[in-house]
Amino acid sequence: MKTRITELFGIQHPIIQGGMHYVGLAELAAAVSNAGGLGIITGLTQKTPELLAREIARCREMTDKPFGVNLTFLPTVSSPDYPGYIKAIIEGGVKAVETAGNNPQKWMPLLKEHGIKVIHKCTSVRHALKAEAIGCDAVSVDGFECGGHPGEDDVPNFILLPRAAEELKIPFVASGGMADGRSLVAALALGAEGMNMGTRFIATKEAPVHEKVKQAIVAASELDTRLVMRPLRNTERVLNNAAVERLLEKEKSLGANLRFEDIIEEVAGVYPRIMQSGDMDAGAWSCGMVAGLIHDVPSCQALIDRIMGEADQLIRQRLAGMAG
Ligand SMILES: Cc1cc2nc3c(=O)[nH]c(=O)nc-3n(C[C@H](O)[C@H](O)[C@H](O)COP(=O)(O)O)c2cc1C
Repeated sequence: MKTRITELFGIQHPIIQGGMHYVGLAELAAAVSNAGGLGIITGLTQKTPELLAREIARCREMTDKPFGVNLTFLPTVSSPDYPGYIKAIIEGGVKAVETAGNNPQKWMPLLKEHGIKVIHKCTSVRHALKAEAIGCDAVSVDGFECGGHPGEDDVPNFILLPRAAEELKIPFVASGGMADGRSLVAALALGAEGMNMGTRFIATKEAPVHEKVKQAIVAASELDTRLVMRPLRNTERVLNNAAVERLLEKEKSLGANLRFEDIIEEVAGVYPRIMQSGDMDAGAWSCGMVAGLIHDVPSCQALIDRIMGEADQLIRQRLAGMAG
């Protein structure tokens, strides 16, 4: 399939694997890229720029296809070594960066100077327009359904994507709630040039996470996610578990007095314990409502082939037949 996104990134299929903390390691990024999509290494999961450089080199050993790096700009006071991470990306010859979180404007000249394509992930049309204005090549439009941080506007993709299409000149991919060929065709119909998936890619053979994480996603329904940290205006969609219930209870009882310190135990530093050790109640971990559409753990190749096959059939048979 050819879209503005496949052209932009030099990939075969318009499918991107979004950056995911402690999931987006070289194994997953390489598997997605080898299957014709765009795999993404999560920059900040690597504790130092040197470790990111090593992860990029490891990915390059596993694929000769294009892959990218996610850089999440955190709203924290003690900032990670972003110049160091960007240096590792440039020196590693990576030509695609997925930015997320705070506005990446400060880093755009350096990235552009090195011919790096930037796709910014955002949850509103106004942020997408800002990304376009500062020179991003594309945006990933993340609807309210998404796993991770859906923002505070709560606009689902059936509205958000066509609104983005009304306003944007740069290409965008649909993100949040995407799982299969139906998602892809719907995203294209709503004006997107492809799709970005997070949760769906965790439940794949190559995702370097504990088997219990994959099985939790397969077992979950669309009713099993919760929104946490709303009172802190740092909303995150997570899979419900004992820690999340404890966290929500604290949010309820403390109300407007809630501070980050009150919930630190449920959210800080929990990813390695969940993703690597399979300690499923260790804390809150991002997961999309799309878990309800995930019923198996295929390889990335089988998943992407299936999506493209379904999309082709939907377009050529179901939709063409209806139009006829
Ligand atoms: C476990 C997990 C961790 C994530 N970590 C990050 C991250 O570190 N940076 C980021 O920009 N997005 C992160 N995301 C968001 C994904 O990149 C993607 O935008 C989102 O999962 C799309 O929604 P979906 O899960 O419905 O496909 C994460 C998502 C999940 C499920």
